[in-house]
Amino acid sequence: MFSWLMAKYYDYMLRDAEEKCLKDWRKILLQDLSGDVLELGCGTGANLAFYPNTINHLVLAEPNLSMQQQLDLKLKNYSHLPASVLVCTAESISTPDNSFDAVVSTLLLCTVNNPALALSEIHRVLRPGGKLFFIEHVAAQNNPERLKWQKRIEPFWKILQCNCHLTRDTEANILQAGFIIQKINRQSMRGVPAIVRPSIWGIAEKL
Ligand SMILES: C[S@@+](CC[C@H](N)C(=O)[O-])C[C@H]1O[C@@H](n2cnc3c(N)ncnc32)[C@H](O)[C@@H]1O
Repeated sequence: MFSWLMAKYYDYMLRDAEEKCLKDWRKILLQDLSGDVLELGCGTGANLAFYPNTINHLVLAEPNLSMQQQLDLKLKNYSHLPASVLVCTAESISTPDNSFDAVVSTLLLCTVNNPALALSEIHRVLRPGGKLFFIEHVAAQNNPERLKWQKRIEPFWKILQCNCHLTRDTEANILQAGFIIQKINRQSMRGVPAIVRPSIWGIAEKL
């Protein structure tokens, strides 16, 4: 029920954030992608508009049927992209080891059940030197008052927002999974409630 509603109104709910910052972050982050690319948890396809024509093959993975339906509708406008759709979770990616040059994870690692397992799967499917391109909202490590509110609200938020967690330390999780961070921006995601604003976006390389 919530996942159907989320899929139907996802683009509408994020509209303000997209206009205020997310579109810019997506555009800058994805502009230099090339080779074989996997996007995990691609949702309604918010990144489709920003994929450059240097991509060889784009695999769009999404486990949720309602999101897939929205994605299919949007994909019709992007027939120039060399894209295929895959049904799998980030914790169990149904492709061989070393099969991608890049993995894209935007607003995903807040939602997966097991971020460490998802990151170890991302590491597995990336080729040596392959890169993880991420945009994630995270715990407010440098703002104790906000972190306190994130912890208080998270139990309810998770239920209403399809398992979205507010207190994940995604930067530490990326490092623990065996990546080095090449570029990172720590910014406030404008256009969303204060508890969701602390964000990181950038590129991590498989060691
Ligand atoms: C907040 S949305 C982000 C959608 C899109 N990536 C974006 O940037 O707008 C999270 C997406 O991750 C998907 N998802 C949830 N759990 C997942 C998992 N374990 N593995 C992969 N995708 C998952 C959801 O169905 C949803 O489409």
